[in-house]
Amino acid sequence: MDYALLARQAQALVADEPDPLANLANFAALAFAEIPGINWAGFYFAHPDGALVLGPFGGKPACTRLPSGRGVCGAAAVSGTTVIVDDVDAFGDHIVCDSASQSEIVVPILRDGTTIAVFDIDAPRKSRFTEEDRIGIERLVATIASSAIQLAEALSTPSESINAVTSSNGSGIDR
Ligand code: SME
Repeated sequence: MDYALLARQAQALVADEPDPLANLANFAALAFAEIPGINWAGFYFAHPDGALVLGPFGGKPACTRLPSGRGVCGAAAVSGTTVIVDDVDAFGDHIVCDSASQSEIVVPILRDGTTIAVFDIDAPRKSRFTEEDRIGIERLVATIASSAIQLAEALSTPSESINAVTSSNGSGIDR
């Protein structure tokens, strides 16, 4: 697997777009499409209570909220280092989102020493992720870290909502 090429493709894909959510979505889709032998790839973002909440991803619908410090994702978030699990059944605290998943790698993304998000990849066979994959995937994720930090900042800042001129004309979804 040529992770250096994939990292260049990821950089090219996001280079001209300032919106972090759009870039994270395309990054997850690219990783899911191009890394062979995987069944899921995506982000979870750390919320103030410590839970990890689902972000942009490629693959089947997944668990939306992982409790603080729990699962492989929580272990990576708490330690601030990449976690590879060769056999999810042998990892006591694995959270099952898809029973097809058998091994997993989770790369945390940190800002000032604090985990703000993780990038999680699942594979449908045991021991899918080698040391070479770890190095390649860490470099790949490094190319999107600034977008993840931007989105984390946006999520933690109360948004100035765009006030509709009128909400009484019966159009749109107004809650
Ligand atoms: N298995 C993960 C949960 C996320 S899903 O795999 C998409 C975990 O144990 O943290």
